[in-house]
Amino acid sequence: MNKIKNITVIGTGVIGTGWILRFLAFNKKVTAYEPSVKQKNYLKKELKRTKPSIEKLYNKKININNLVFSSNIEDAVNKADLIQENVPERLELKKKVINQLSQFAPKNCIIASSSSGLLPSELQSNCINPKRFIIAHPFNPVYILPLVEIVKGNKTSKIIMNEANKFYKNLHMKTLIVNKELPGFLSDRLQEALWREGLHIINEGYATTKDLDEAITYGPGMRWALMGTFLTFHLAGGELGMKHMLDQFGPALKLPWTKLKSPSLNKKLKDKIITGTKKQSKNLSINKLSNMRDNFLIDLLDLKKKYRL
Ligand SMILES: NC(=O)c1ccc[n+]([C@@H]2O[C@H](COP(=O)([O-])OP(=O)(O)OC[C@H]3O[C@@H](n4cnc5c(N)ncnc54)[C@H](O)[C@@H]3O)[C@@H](O)[C@H]2O)c1
Repeated sequence: MNKIKNITVIGTGVIGTGWILRFLAFNKKVTAYEPSVKQKNYLKKELKRTKPSIEKLYNKKININNLVFSSNIEDAVNKADLIQENVPERLELKKKVINQLSQFAPKNCIIASSSSGLLPSELQSNCINPKRFIIAHPFNPVYILPLVEIVKGNKTSKIIMNEANKFYKNLHMKTLIVNKELPGFLSDRLQEALWREGLHIINEGYATTKDLDEAITYGPGMRWALMGTFLTFHLAGGELGMKHMLDQFGPALKLPWTKLKSPSLNKKLKDKIITGTKKQSKNLSINKLSNMRDNFLIDLLDLKKKYRL
């Protein structure tokens, strides 16, 4: 929405930085608040790394002068139309920060949290004027991936949900409205199920991190970029579609194919995952891998447009 022009971003880690890059690409005025010097520098480095590809992707110029840092939270938010909060995923910390933001922000300013799965009703419980609080949960890298889950808490107003929906759509995002809150929302619940199962398989020594990544990237993952699990399984049922699929694979739901409850993340399991992914990355730096991922995703967006369902 055009009337949302001044954005304040709280925390410039992976996600806060990703949001800033997307906001700048769409000519928003951004104020960043970040207590750590290291993280401020991370934002500057990411801006340099990603600017050419973002400008190409959106066919827009990024104006660096639209970004300022503020070292005082009150100054950072007192002119904001929308605040995007990206502090670490800890309930008490987020509640404290959201309360602070709501004290200094203009009354009608939308306060959006990037939380990956905390309930909005809990996060907004200390927020002054809580009807303007929402979850806007993005996916990394935020400057490329379109999905944002917009989740309503029990005090959030419908008007704010509609305004937020328009605002994020105008940033070329695919908004997914979640009116009935649930821990982990939608996408992370699905990701988490896969992640937990992977941890069990590795913990019990059946496969390496590389095997499990290939089990996705050369198979189901390729289909998922176009069709999700449900439409994919509709095709798995042959000419009778989902009906035949359910008749054939329904009984497997009773077999012990998944555990879902997570194994204990002990040192041995952590070491296996860390050394496994390090080996997979062939010693390429995070920057090199991020560039490779970004370029791939940008090409994939083009391909998705071509095959739009
Ligand atoms: N990493 C992901 O893939 C991902 C995806 C979607 C959503 N999220 C969510 O985004 C949020 C941020 O995650 P992240 O991965 O960017 O974490 P991160 O650790 O990379 O960044 C967190 C940032 O917050 C800063 N910070 C800490 N306390 C602060 C405070 N009181 N005020 C302002 N800044 C403060 C830290 O210095 C750091 O820069 C979390 O809620 C997370 O669940 C993460």
